Amino acid sequence: MRKPIIVGNWKMNKTIAEAVDFIKAVDPVCHDGATYGVGTSFLALQDSVKHAKNLIIAAENCHFADSGAFTGEVSVPMLEEIGVKYCIIGHSERRQMFGDTDESVNKKAKRLIDADITPIVCIGETEAQYDAGETETVIRSQLSGSLADLCPDCVKGIVVAYEPIWAIGTGKSATKEDAQKCCHIVRDQIEKMYGKEAADAVRIQYGGSVKPENIVEYMACPDIDGALIGGASLKADSFTEIINKTK
Ligand code: G3P
Repeated sequence: MRKPIIVGNWKMNKTIAEAVDFIKAVDPVCHDGATYGVGTSFLALQDSVKHAKNLIIAAENCHFADSGAFTGEVSVPMLEEIGVKYCIIGHSERRQMFGDTDESVNKKAKRLIDADITPIVCIGETEAQYDAGETETVIRSQLSGSLADLCPDCVKGIVVAYEPIWAIGTGKSATKEDAQKCCHIVRDQIEKMYGKEAADAVRIQYGGSVKPENIVEYMACPDIDGALIGGASLKADSFTEIINKTK
């Protein structure tokens, strides 16, 4: 049985004070039916970790090197030091605007696994790739690169977020049939790479315009184990509604 995992990705939103206010409001609402969490800015991580008893707190990126001349970057040991247990990597915004590649995502995943921090590995096709019927090829290729050379046992613990780029922040969410089909392709690709046991254990999220109104239909899909949520995770009320709807 895979425990569902629903994570808000705040992106570059919320000051430290706003993050703490949100956590104070939402943390008590969490229940054992799923793992709930939020991805915060690097600055808000430490206070968020301190205030969260139930919510898991995720970084939204990391560097794969432990230290060195990488101005503006944050390393995995730095996240470890403040008790961060999850880290989103390879989000499409990072791939499109900050040069993340399957190769760098793979290095980050390996370093996070070594530190016992769960990577949430994001993949997903662009609108042009979707229109050209290339979705499956893109998913398989991003996974081959981003998850290359991991140990099958480690793969069991990771989270993969399938986020079609055309559905991010657009209000144009994937149909539950399309989301299920793509999350099934994710699981199948992991089975090809690491075997059935790993594929059965890995948790797969759908992301892209998830909100209280559609969370239940996604969660009912056999290969969807949760969601990575942007806009609808920013308000305590709507995230609470999502938590309540996934009991
Ligand atoms: O990582 C979550 C995100 O990219 C989806 O954003 O606003 O469409 O839920 P949103």
